[in-house]
Amino acid sequence: MSKTAASESQFERMEKIVSLAKRRGFIFQSSEIYGGIGGFWDYGPLGAELKRNLRETWWRAMTRDRDDVVGLDATIILHPAVWKASGHVDTFADMMRECTITNKRVRADHVDQQSGSVIRYTGAKAPNGWSNDRQITVLMKQGEHIESFRKRVRLLLTQNAGVAAGKPEEIELVGEERIKVVECSVDFHPETGGLLNEARPFNLMLKTYIGPTATEEDIAYLRPETAQAIFAQFKNVCDSSRVKVPFGIGQIGKAFRNEVTPKNFTFRSREFEQMELEFFIKPDEAVQLIHGSVAVWSEAADLSTPQPNWGWEMWHRYWVTERTAYYARIGLGSEVLDYIWQTKADLAHYARACVDILFKFPFGTEELEGIAARGSFDLTQHQTHSGKQLEYFDEELKTACDKLTNEEKSSFIAAAFEKRFNPATTLEETALFCEKLFKGLYIPHVIEPSAGLDRLALAILSAAFEEELVTDDKGKSETRTVLHFHPRIAPIKVGIFPLLKNKPELVSKAREIVALLRPHMAVFYDETGAIGRRYRRQDEAGTPFGVTIDFETLGEEKPEFKDTVTLRERDSMQQRRIGVTELLPFLLGKIL
Ligand code: GAP
Repeated sequence: MSKTAASESQFERMEKIVSLAKRRGFIFQSSEIYGGIGGFWDYGPLGAELKRNLRETWWRAMTRDRDDVVGLDATIILHPAVWKASGHVDTFADMMRECTITNKRVRADHVDQQSGSVIRYTGAKAPNGWSNDRQITVLMKQGEHIESFRKRVRLLLTQNAGVAAGKPEEIELVGEERIKVVECSVDFHPETGGLLNEARPFNLMLKTYIGPTATEEDIAYLRPETAQAIFAQFKNVCDSSRVKVPFGIGQIGKAFRNEVTPKNFTFRSREFEQMELEFFIKPDEAVQLIHGSVAVWSEAADLSTPQPNWGWEMWHRYWVTERTAYYARIGLGSEVLDYIWQTKADLAHYARACVDILFKFPFGTEELEGIAARGSFDLTQHQTHSGKQLEYFDEELKTACDKLTNEEKSSFIAAAFEKRFNPATTLEETALFCEKLFKGLYIPHVIEPSAGLDRLALAILSAAFEEELVTDDKGKSETRTVLHFHPRIAPIKVGIFPLLKNKPELVSKAREIVALLRPHMAVFYDETGAIGRRYRRQDEAGTPFGVTIDFETLGEEKPEFKDTVTLRERDSMQQRRIGVTELLPFLLGKIL
């Protein structure tokens, strides 16, 4: 979901970020030497480190630092039945329209408005015998000259027909007719100007074949999200780990979507990484039976520590707060984030709530992460389609229910029916669900915080990028390009610089410091060029600290400074002396 459009200067900013990302080895176009491949991106040396650090911060915050979340690392290709059960085979589609001349596709909601004259030809032919007998309808854009327009149409025809049509200039366009003038029309392809056909659903899953025969039966899909593998392995995780609802399973991994219009650099890619948590909670009815009431959310609710009597809404709000705190810890504060709470009408039929956390990208305020309360939909679907029991046995619930009288059970069923989430649920279905609860059985509900790693890397780059005018001691001004990464996620934590490369004592001391720090963090040793230029190079890479080893370090000029170095902070550009023995604790305090 998007909130605002970008201004022109923001487009320029975006272009600068894309250019820096390539120049400094953060992000490259995949297969660039062959002209690239749309929607696929590679991460260079600095980008790979950045992504790794982001992955690590998510994994730590969401699994290792918590008692109630475990991890999973599942395959990219799953049994195709998983995608049937999840609904992806039937409904994971974008509405799409096709150019009637080139067959180029565009998402129906991504067609820009265009104005001009609609020109129709009854056909086209070439001296080599090639002909096109279908009508050709193209928009001649406002201000476009008729001759250059015709040239463009000939080119479009050859783009589609290839060599068979011969040279574009030899094509004869037949029966030209100006049909009408249109304003702000969305019926023509934004690039080709060709008339678009009706919108049709286009499934976004990428297909492959398993095994050597490549028949329809061998079709499999590259996963379009990591989440489904978590649901498919729910029972194994429960059986093999000492987890108890409420608990979560987190996973980071590749996902693939055949996006119709990949765009905005890495923002909408065809191959990307997701960081997803499926957090399983008790249905509110189970909470009610165990605790006698369900804590529901209000503005005054304390979300700091999960409580046993929380219902789904408290858990949902809790995860929105947790994720917001996570972003703040890596440098994305409230000034760059926004939220969209989906209305009841926007929600999927099974979902109870969904909030998108948005980031203010230079090209607009767009989704970074979605946090959905998905009810018991996913596990129920997999239970139905696989025929395997995915119900969870809750000892605490069973113990609580064993104390209930038959009258209490009946009135509980009646109350549950009154409060049912889905009005279509019958009394019989409610009774069946409650009878299961009385035995301690239910299908857990799910809260799903689902983030994109590549989007996060792009958000981090966008938030960190700054061009600032700096003036040196001699009054000379220059533009400093700097990436203000939080030290926790910066690809390189510290640059180590001997003041002069031809002084062996300085070099060997600098190498000693590299050896001291390297086991704990990514360091970069640089001995070439003036010290100011070395600082600037690291500013562009987003390295938060620089350490210079100079003659004072050796104690040659001022013995009291022996074994101290100059520590420069990237953001303030302030320099101060620090003892070599203090370096490691200082830096660890900043990056952990
Ligand atoms: N399991 C829920 C799910 O997949 P989603 O909103 O489709 O939900 C979650 O995707 C996150 O994955 C998004 O918020 C976004 O960060 C990332 N994402 C989705 N499609 C993407 C794409 N084509 N390119 C890059 N990131 C994408």
